Amino acid sequence: MRTPIIAGNWKMYKTQNEAFQLASTLKQRLSNLNSVKVVLCPPFTALASVKEAILGSNILLGAQNMHWEKEGAYTGEVSPEMLLTIGCKYVIIGHSERRSYFFETNQTVNLRVKSALKFGLIPIICVGERLEEREANKTEQVVENHIKGAFADLTGNLAEETVIAYEPVWAIGTGKTATPSQANEVHLFIRELLSSMFSKECADKINILYGGSVKPDNSKQLLDMSDIDGALVGGASLDADSFEKIVRSAT
Ligand code: PGA
Repeated sequence: MRTPIIAGNWKMYKTQNEAFQLASTLKQRLSNLNSVKVVLCPPFTALASVKEAILGSNILLGAQNMHWEKEGAYTGEVSPEMLLTIGCKYVIIGHSERRSYFFETNQTVNLRVKSALKFGLIPIICVGERLEEREANKTEQVVENHIKGAFADLTGNLAEETVIAYEPVWAIGTGKTATPSQANEVHLFIRELLSSMFSKECADKINILYGGSVKPDNSKQLLDMSDIDGALVGGASLDADSFEKIVRSAT
């Protein structure tokens, strides 16, 4: 059985103090949950204070991006080892905002995925189609291309250490959510694809999260679907009440 994962992607929100406050509140409210993995992904500048705030709880820390090299002359970048030693267990890779605003490609996503795994971080690999691609019936083609790109050169043993987030770009931050069955259909497609690329056993181990306007009033219906194994939550993760409700809807 896959334990659901609810990950909060705080994007470029929360100063260090604000992040500490939010994480401390979530620790008080959620620290005893065992049936769901809660992951907080604050900006780099707040990783240390969030780590401190969640100490002694089951809440896990994640970053929103990383470079693939161990170290080097890469001004402005953060390495996997830096994330690992600050206490991260997860790292979001290839978010659509990074693909569209910062020109990430399948190839750089693949480099990051391989590096994260090599350093012992769990990559949360984001895939998903844009509105015009869905309207042109290209959803499966785009998702397949993202998955094949991200997983290039990986063996099944490594692939099963990853988490995938299906995030239709048209649903991110727009208030438009894929219906539970629309989302589950793509999740099933992804699982079958993984099964054909690796094995059924491997595909069955990978958590596939849904992301895109997940809110307290739609999370339960989404999470009840057979192949939706959690959520990657943006806007609604910035508020303790709404994030707590989403986490509880996964229990
Ligand atoms: P949203 O963002 O929940 O605000 O739509 C999700 C994401 O981008 O991961």
